[in-house]
Parts: sequence; C-alpha cells; structure tokens
Amino acid sequence: MSERLTIALSKGRIFKETLPLLAHAGIEPLDDPESSRKLILDTNREDVKLVIIRATDVPTYVQYGAADLGVAGKDVLLEQGGVGLYEPLDLRIARCRLMVAGREHWSEQAQRLRIATKYVNSTREYFAARGLQVEVIKLYGSMELAPLVGLADLIVDVVDTGNTLKANGLQPLEKIADISSRLVVNRASMKRKHARVQSFIDLMAEAVRKQQEQAA
Ligand code: ATP
Ligand code: PRP
Repeated sequence: MSERLTIALSKGRIFKETLPLLAHAGIEPLDDPESSRKLILDTNREDVKLVIIRATDVPTYVQYGAADLGVAGKDVLLEQGGVGLYEPLDLRIARCRLMVAGREHWSEQAQRLRIATKYVNSTREYFAARGLQVEVIKLYGSMELAPLVGLADLIVDVVDTGNTLKANGLQPLEKIADISSRLVVNRASMKRKHARVQSFIDLMAEAVRKQQEQAA
C-alpha cells in the first residue's frame, strides 16, 4: 500500500467543488459530510482520508501536519499569512472577490472610517496602503448588517453575484483581491512523501485544466 494521505476540506461549497477534482485523481469519499456527523471520512482508497473542518481552520491543520494537504480560500490564506505552507496549485473553484462595500463611496477626507469584517488583517493592510486611518471591527459573519444598524460605515467581505449586497442596500465599492481556492501542502509532507504528494498535485492540476477547457 502506498503512503497515507490526509486531505483537509471544509463542508459546503469547497467540498462540493473539490469533489469532481478528487474524482479525477481517483478519490471518492464514502460519506457525505452534509448528512454524516463524521469528521474523518473514508474514501474508496484505503490510503486516503478526508478531514472535515471549518474553512478558516484548514491552513492550521495543514501547517501542523495534521493533514498533508488541504483546500483553502485565498481570502483565508491572505488573512492568515499562509505561514509554513506550500501553495502549489490554484484550483479555480469557489471564485469570488474580496471587496470593500457600503451604502456609498467614502470620502477621502473621512475621519477614521469604521469597517466591519472578518478579514481584519487584510482590511488594515488595504487601507493603510492608501494612507487612511480606519477602525476595524471584527465580526464572524453577516457583515452586511453592520452598515444598516450603524455599527460600521463600510464592510469588507467576499462578493460573488453581488446579490447579498444588493438585498441589503449596499454596493460593491473597491476590489481588494480576486479569490479562488488553493491546494495547500504541509512542508514536511512535501519532502517525506514527495512522490505521492507530487503525483496527487499533478492529477489535481490536470483535473483543473480539463475543467477549464470544458468551461471555455
Ligand atoms: P465558516 O463557515 O467556517 O465561517 P465560510 O462561511 O467562509 O467559513 P464557506 O462559505 O464555505 O465558508 O466559504 C469557503 C470559501 O469559499 C471562502 O473562504 C471563500 O474563498 C469562498 N467563498 C465564500 N463565499 C463565496 C461565494 N458567495 N461565492 C464563491 N465563493 C465563495
Ligand atoms: C458569502 C459572503 C456573502 C455572500 C456573497 O456568504 O459572506 O455574504 O457569500 O455572495 P453573493 O455576492 O453571491 O451574494 P455565504 O453564501 O458563504 O454564506 P455564509 O458564509 O453566511 O454561510
């Protein structure tokens, strides 16, 4: 049997969109994380396990080697710094944009704008680079509410269709970054299980290429 691989994924959009790519690499989970309460999923391959965790915890599991590989949004990697990880492949899934949004564009003369977000570091960096002093309020979700109830002037969140902003009377104002999910790899696994990990990366890369060709 070949060396064991543990892959960290989050439930929902990342799991769903990673499935076809895994299938191309010959890996099929035996359980559905939406219905199972299991956190370690067996696959059709005895040497491959999937661990199901929060999207923001994927870099941590991979960094500490609790998982050899993982799939993480670039928003999460930018926010956390991606320390101690290889990021060899853009999977081009879960695509969106990290944006500043609000009711209207802010005035460059505005004093100490208040910005609600779960992306505290990315937000500070973005506004600091513009020479604007901001107060960042950390939230864990439903950021769109903050400007509606006077908690903040602006939000920083991911935007895809823009429907959530629109439904709450907000507009996308400035793009901070284009976002997609990345394959991340533990540095020690990359060395110790090199052939195994590299062949998995190659198969995933081929799957991404095929998916892009089909979409074109
Ligand atoms: P948690 O549930 O742990 O708070 P989350 O809600 O950010 O995390 P998901 O909604 O599954 O988890 O998002 C996972 C990743 O998918 C995000 O990190 C981001 O890269 C991307 N993403 C988030 N929202 C969208 C969206 N509306 N469209 C496309 N991609 C998105
Ligand atoms: C994300 C994000 C926005 C929404 C943007 O939330 O936090 O609220 O998607 O997508 P849109 O531009 O297509 O409306 P998500 O759907 O993941 O919901 P949740 O994180 O609150 O579960």
